[in-house]
Amino acid sequence: MRILSGIQPSGNLHLGNYFGAMRPCIELQDKGDVFLFIANYHALTSHPEPELLRERVRGVAVDFLACGIDPEKTVFFKQTDLMEVCELTWILACQTTVGQLERCHSYKDKIAQGLTPNHGLFTYPVLMAADILLYQSNVVPVGKDQKQHLEVTRDLANRFNNNFGETFVMPEPHIQENVAVVPGIDGRKMSKSYENIIELFGGKKQTRKKFMKIVTDSTSLEDPKDPDSCNVFALYSLFANDEELAQMRQNYQGGNYGFGHAKQAAFEKFWDYFEPMREKREYYIQNPDIVDDILADGARRAKVVADETMEKVRIAVGLK
Ligand code: ADP
Ligand code: TRP
Repeated sequence: MRILSGIQPSGNLHLGNYFGAMRPCIELQDKGDVFLFIANYHALTSHPEPELLRERVRGVAVDFLACGIDPEKTVFFKQTDLMEVCELTWILACQTTVGQLERCHSYKDKIAQGLTPNHGLFTYPVLMAADILLYQSNVVPVGKDQKQHLEVTRDLANRFNNNFGETFVMPEPHIQENVAVVPGIDGRKMSKSYENIIELFGGKKQTRKKFMKIVTDSTSLEDPKDPDSCNVFALYSLFANDEELAQMRQNYQGGNYGFGHAKQAAFEKFWDYFEPMREKREYYIQNPDIVDDILADGARRAKVVADETMEKVRIAVGLK
């Protein structure tokens, strides 16, 4: 079973990204043949500074490796190392109706925000379909926001197979519905667009400060507090085991336990949890050649599959 997912290199990774996207992906490594790529072609739709884009691609690669992507198990590569994906995008674009892309939420939302859409943004779902179909993926784990893009992919695969004969595997979305939304320090969903994030690999002092700023209600120190409506408790629970969580619940309900104590405890748990990853990350930062080699090797392994698909596609449509 081939499992494929892509990540946009769009900024420093935060706790929401880790629990919502990275950890599920890392856990899948033992369940099938995982292909994971950094979607730097997709990133161009939002016009990043060129130097920043380069930096972010490397940053995402380092962070995923540090957090547990095992290059022996996973084919880990950069989208742009296989230009076949652009060729397939064009071929699929010729099977896509404009109306279908006009109905996509990501495009409609940008328009609603008053942004001037570029063609890349409009055609983003076709590039995503090419990513998935090029590698004959069976399962695609994504967040809920990507559900519609998967529907476009399945529709295109179906149309292509009907018009030109069985060519593509029909991918199944694996929507991560049961992943809890990680709250940001202001209590809204943690998101880089809200500036409420806790970065995975920020400095110690700075990160502690962030924890201290987590918004709580104004129950006074002596009074019992409700753990279930508390952002600090929600963050603490991401790292604590059952016993620790039960103890923390008691602390909240017993009174004479301040939010400051809970924040400090949550920060310490967070810091310890990422300690081994911090060390691994440092290793990859010090050895950029190793990161490049891992990505190049991933691209070589991905190319074997891509070449086979493209040969079939070119023959099917009459280009060869
Ligand atoms: P952001 O909201 O910071 O822009 P992205 O949209 O780039 O984050 O997120 C990439 C993936 O990370 C999402 O598809 C989703 O699976 C996961 N994710 C992001 N924020 C959260 C969150 N607060 N809780 C759970 N998962 C999240
Ligand atoms: N659009 C996805 C996101 O923003 C990233 C992505 C690009 C992707 N190509 C993909 C995810 C193919 C899964 C499969 O999160």
